[in-house]
Amino acid sequence: MCIDCLSRAYDPFMSGFEVLGLRRWRAELLGPLQGAVLELGAGTGANLPHYGDGVTRLVLVEPGEGMRAVLQPKADARGAEVLGGFAEALPLDDNSVDAVVFGLVLCSVRDPMAALAEAKRVLKPGGQLVFIEHVQGRGPLGWVHRAMAPLWAMVAGGCRLDRDTARTIEAAGFVFEDIKRTWFPGAPLVMPAIRGTARPAGAPATPAQGA
Ligand SMILES: C[S@@+](CC[C@H](N)C(=O)[O-])C[C@H]1O[C@@H](n2cnc3c(N)ncnc32)[C@H](O)[C@@H]1O
Repeated sequence: MCIDCLSRAYDPFMSGFEVLGLRRWRAELLGPLQGAVLELGAGTGANLPHYGDGVTRLVLVEPGEGMRAVLQPKADARGAEVLGGFAEALPLDDNSVDAVVFGLVLCSVRDPMAALAEAKRVLKPGGQLVFIEHVQGRGPLGWVHRAMAPLWAMVAGGCRLDRDTARTIEAAGFVFEDIKRTWFPGAPLVMPAIRGTARPAGAPATPAQGA
């Protein structure tokens, strides 16, 4: 099933997860951001209310037309720019943003390494990667995820249950500043989750946000 076809149902569907904890995770990670922020796979704009006044430019990339139709009015109200396109090929200059945000997206992109390479390219030196993602479980849950991944991808718009996204983030050349591994609130299958921040390896320890 195509997730974009369900764009009008996305917010009601997610509302329970938001109340159970997702909303708090978004607020904790996005509230402190400053300067120019790029969000990839922005969907219907669930992250928008959580960006603070310190964000001076907000660019939202979303490939789905249906998602963009829901997103656009919310983005207009926030003064954010909406771009079509894919995380794997960003229409942005090198070293142009202070933070890149992935929220429940690296499970769905066709090529997570390419998406993270693009994120690294557009981040300013010292810029920050922010992520909330569900990942493959360990032990028996990992077996279930691997077995179910092809079927789940068909019914859930390409979402993969079997991605080790923390490892992919590191393999793409990022170093974690903070990573929390927890259960995904209220979801029996789409868990566990990781959330936190990372910076390109070798980047200055002090954030360069808004510089
Ligand atoms: C599960 S939704 C998450 C939406 C939103 N970020 C959130 O936190 O609720 C996944 C989104 O990723 C988008 N997406 C899928 N493949 C993508 C890609 N290659 N590049 C950018 N976004 C993509 C989908 O269109 C969809 O809007």
